[in-house]
Order: sequence, then structure tokens, then C-alpha cells
Amino acid sequence: MKKILTCLFLCCLLAARAADNPNVKKLFNVTSGELKLSFMVGTDDRLYQLAFGDASREVTPPAKMPSREWEFLPPYGNGVLTEPAIQATHVDGNTSTELHYVGHRTETLSPGVEQTVISLKDPAYPFAVDIYIKCYADQSMMEIWNTVTHNEKGKVVLHRFASASPVVKAKEYWLTQFAGNYKREATLSEERLSEGVKILDSKLGVRAHQMRIPSFILSLDGKARENEGEVLAASLRWSGSFQFAFDMDWNKNLRLLTGMNPLGSQYNLERGGTFTTPAILYAYSRQGKGEASRRFHRWAKVNAVRDADKDRPVLLNNWEATHCDFDEARLKQLFDGARQTGAELFLLDDGWFGNGAYSRDDDKHGLGDWEPSKKKLPHGLSYIAREALKRKVGFGIWLEPEMVNPQSELYQKHPEWIITQPKREPILGRHQEILDLTRPEVQAYEWDIIDQTLRPNPDITYVKWDCNRYITQPGSSYLQAADQTHLWIDYNWSLYRLMDRFAKGFPNVMAMLCAGGSGRVDYGAMPYFHSFWPSDNTDPLGRIKIQWGFSHFFPASTISAHVTRMGKRHLKMAIDVALSGAFGVDLALDKATAEERAQIADAVKLYKERIRPLVMRGELYRLVSPYESPLASLSYVAADKKQAVVYLYQTKDGSKARVKLGGLDASKKYRVEEVSLPKGAASRFPASGKVLTGEELMTRGLENPLNAQFESAVLMIEMI
Ligand code: DGJ
Repeated sequence: MKKILTCLFLCCLLAARAADNPNVKKLFNVTSGELKLSFMVGTDDRLYQLAFGDASREVTPPAKMPSREWEFLPPYGNGVLTEPAIQATHVDGNTSTELHYVGHRTETLSPGVEQTVISLKDPAYPFAVDIYIKCYADQSMMEIWNTVTHNEKGKVVLHRFASASPVVKAKEYWLTQFAGNYKREATLSEERLSEGVKILDSKLGVRAHQMRIPSFILSLDGKARENEGEVLAASLRWSGSFQFAFDMDWNKNLRLLTGMNPLGSQYNLERGGTFTTPAILYAYSRQGKGEASRRFHRWAKVNAVRDADKDRPVLLNNWEATHCDFDEARLKQLFDGARQTGAELFLLDDGWFGNGAYSRDDDKHGLGDWEPSKKKLPHGLSYIAREALKRKVGFGIWLEPEMVNPQSELYQKHPEWIITQPKREPILGRHQEILDLTRPEVQAYEWDIIDQTLRPNPDITYVKWDCNRYITQPGSSYLQAADQTHLWIDYNWSLYRLMDRFAKGFPNVMAMLCAGGSGRVDYGAMPYFHSFWPSDNTDPLGRIKIQWGFSHFFPASTISAHVTRMGKRHLKMAIDVALSGAFGVDLALDKATAEERAQIADAVKLYKERIRPLVMRGELYRLVSPYESPLASLSYVAADKKQAVVYLYQTKDGSKARVKLGGLDASKKYRVEEVSLPKGAASRFPASGKVLTGEELMTRGLENPLNAQFESAVLMIEMI
């Protein structure tokens, strides 16, 4: 009731303001929890944006008509000086667009989820843009996208198509991006923005995010902090190339243009056709980026991760252990190792297919020929899956449906199916080419790969979907000459249709999203997957930072983390790092010592019995950043605050004497216990075995005895 009255009061206030102000035709807000977008329709019929941010801040319409830079979706060519959000060439050649407000409507989609659609139209052309704003009030999140339609007599060419371009106003803006490269993905860097346009983008089209994920954090009035300060965390739901433009004017207003990368992507939109942009997600927090991340995680578990409630199985993967070199006998030895250590599913990686001259014995051969290898798997997939099941271990398989090696039967038959440019020497990436998913035969073929691998082999209950190269020559022998530029965009929409068909067609098959590490991690693809592979870097030292980066947007249950020998670090540290994600092992267990196998078995047991529920359903508190201290520490706290798991990793020598926990109930008592200890070893943590209050743990913190590089610890904190 109170909410309704406040709402009514605010509406009356806005109506009164609109009536008082000669420039204002209409004022309205779209609010999602603590986040608000305030709009004004001017007497010139344009849709202006008055504010984007803190919902409690009062917004007064300006005394004068706002300048054109305040249009919510500034269109190109008729007076707007800023980076345009929408640019089109109309059928008569006019390169300018005007967008006038037509109306808006709001509907409740489900409890706590409202959608507002604002309709805009060009007064001189049958050309319309609808802005969609979906509000998830509980998480103070907005999801914004738009559609472009027209009824002109011919094709309208779209050159720019931002998903949204809100303007924020603060004294300072600090931008955190997550850039990197193969084996160094999602590395954080933060900078203060200054006047001008700063572009963050990807131009790779496919496996597009290897060098930068389509997500950022914008902190207002100071650097981003974990638990304080105003931040906007954003992520684009798009697996293709993207572009973020941060455009600051001389008045320190910052426009955030986000969307598909328009480079080489002009789109010829048919009469009656609809062009839909991917959505940009914004989470707002006044309690720093820690709360913004938790909002993303809570949102994702309900809206954008497949089967978020289902426990992720403990995997034994064989890529680091064998690469393509295995046979049935070796696999059975690995299955035995999986059973002995308690792993729940064996994931057979690359190398199980291709025959004769195209046997997949290395990465130069066989991609595209998805017949099981007669040499390595003479009894076929069903047999080997059953052998795993006999040992009470599930069975999963690696696929890379989008790719082909020139050294393959498929390529010999269909050289025209690849993405390349005519009259140019084809450029290979990892010795392979990308199949052109805009072509209907390729769409059917890729579906057949999935269907014909899984349908006859119902014991395969897990898929790792890989993708190991970028687009470097964006040409399609299927698309018309005039539509070549559609490739970047249409490829990804086709890909989503394929992923959707896979998820719906095989609802009981779990799936890991992989792209040569994390070349495709975004909320466009995640709805079809249970987890993703963050990096081929499994050296715990590198991995700590990579998982830290992804934790800003993705819940721990989706971050696959495997114990390997990479970096030749202490096994304990490799285990402790993997225990903080969707845990798995990628070791030649058949060649490991009895002691190592026992250590892995203990870790698997600990994970399944005590840690997995917190990884799956807990709330993340990042405690000490590896970017700021020789120690890295994070924790997951159960929703009812009764339990927490705390991870501590020394990435360098040096001491951080105390670690303050987060998210506990200050008034309750907790028992601290170090787990993941080598057999017989006593804990060095003074608090281990003791009882402390939530208040003490959060304000004074835990005494931390670790100080030497490679030391690590896992602590369970349980309410008594
Ligand atoms: C790249 C992935 O990131 C690896 O984990 C592995 O699956 C290889 N591809 C196999 O080719």
C-alpha cells in the first residue's frame, strides 16, 4: 500500500512538473529496485533521458530544452553531435533519422519482473524503433534492447544499432574492463575516464571474447570498491563482436553506448523485417561491486543459466592428461581412477573421431568427420560410455560442431562451406576453418553432428562444446554479394538457434561452454549451458586471477575449475583453487601415485559433502583481491548465513595478517574449521576449532598465518 501511495505521489509530482515546464510534454520513470531511468518527452516530441542511476535521487526536468546529446537513442544525421546509437540510410538515400516518441506501456511479466516498451517513430518515414526495458526489481537490474522495423519500399541499411545508450552523471568515472588473451583471460584493469570517446570492443566474430569479455564495471565518484560506493555492472548478451563506447562530453556527462560491433556489419533490412539488438544488462549497487556481482549471480540463476539448481558433477577430464593420444584400454584405466577418487563423470575430450588419413591424432586432422575413431574406439561410443557406467561413472564427450580441418573428408566434399574471402589465400587458425552457419546446409549438418552423436548414445550425458578460432576473413559463399556484411550478426543468431535446439532436444545432457578457453562467455550463450571453461590456464597462480575476473558476473556454479599439473605447483594449491568452482580433475590418475590419488579422493569427498552446496547456492564475498595483496581470499556464504566456506591463496610471499569475512550474521556464533588439510596435518590457523561471533569475524577478521607463495587453505565456518 505504502509503495502504491509513493508511486501515485511521484506520478502526480511528475505530472505537475510536466505541466509547469513549457518544454515538457511528458515525464516518466522506469524503476528497477534501486535503479531508475528518468525520461522526458520534449515539446519537440523527442525522447530525452534525464537520469540513469540511483532511484532515490530526485530528478528535476531542465528549465531549457535539453541538448540533443540527451536523447536516449541519439539518431545519426539530423543535429546530433554525439556518437549515434542508431544510424540508417533510408530507401530514398536519406542518411538521417529522427525518432519521435509515440507512446509507452508497462506490463508485469512475472512477480517482480516488469517490462516497459517505448515506441519511437521517424515522422518522415515508416521507420520505427521500440525500446524494451525489462526490470528485475529484486536485483536492481535492467535488461535493455531494441527492435528496428520499417515499411519503406525497399531495404533500409542499418549502420549502427546500439542496444542502449544511457547517460550517467557523476564527478568521476572509473571503468573496469576484463581483457586478456589465451591463458590470461578476464584480467582486471581499472582506469579513470577522461573527456572523449573510449572504445572497448571485440572484432573476432566467433570465439569473440578471448581478448575481452563483453562486460564492464563503471564506478561513480571514485575507484570501485568491494563493499561501498555506487557502481553499475554491465554485460552484453551477445557472443559475437561487440562495441562499448564511453563518450564523455565537456560537461562530464558520460554516455554508455553498448551493442553489437557495427564494424563491417551494415544490415540491409527488408520491408516488414525486424532487426533485434542483443540486450545489455545493468546491475546497480550502492554497496560496491561485491553486491553488484551478487545481484548478477542471483539474476543469472533464475534467468540465464541452464538448470541452475542442478548440482554440477565432479568431472574427470582427459585433455591435459592425454591430449588426442588414448585408446579403449587407457580410457578404462582412467575410468577406474575416476571411480576410485569419487569423480562422477568422465569427460572424453578432443581426439575421439576421424579415420584413415584424417584420424584426429593432432589438431591438424579430422575436424568435421564425427565418426568415432575405429583405431581408438573400435567398439564405438555406446560401448565406451557403458564401460564408464559399469564403474558408476557418467560419460560425456567433446564436440566442436562449428569447425573443420582442411585435412578432413568434410572439407574435401564441401570446401565452399567455410567462411573465407574469394580471391584470397585462406587463413587458418589452429589449422582449422569455420563452417558458415548462415548457410542452411551447414545449419542442418551441425545439428546432425549433435543429434547423431547423442541420439544413438543415450549414455552420453554431458557435452563440452568447443570453438577454437576467430573469423579473420568475413566472407560467405552463401550470402548475396550485397548482404556479405550480415555474416557477423547472422552467424551468431544461427548459433543460438542451434544451441537452443540442442538444449531443448537433449534436456538431460549437461553442457560446458568452451571456446579455446573462455572465448565465448556471455549471457547470450549461457542459457544453453551449465558451466563454462574459463581458460586453458589451470596453473593455480594464473587461475586465481582468471576465476576472480569472471566472478564479477558469473556465479561460481558456472565456473569450471579443474585440478591439473600445469605450472607444476603443489597439488594442494591446485585442489584448493579448483574447490572454489564447478570442481573437476584433469590428471592421468592411472599414472598418479597412491598418495596423490588419495589426496584427490579426499578433495572430491570434501567437495561433494560440504563445499558443493555452497559453490552451487552460496553468495560470493570477495575478501582480499589478488590484484592488491600477496593473498587472495574469497568466500561463499549460504543464503541463511548458517555456513560459509573461505578460500585463502598466497600468490606471492608476503603477509596479510587478518582477513575480514563478509555476509555472516553478526549476532551469531560460528565454529571455524580448516578443511582440505593434508592427512594428519594440524591447522596453523589460530581460529581453527574455535568459536567466534559473526561480528568478530567480520570486523576484526580471522588471523591468517599464511605468508609464503603457494600456501593455501580452505576454512568452513558453521553457525552453532
Ligand atoms: C581447447 C579447450 O580449451 C581445451 O580444454 C581442449 O578441449 C582443447 N580445445 C581440445 O582441442
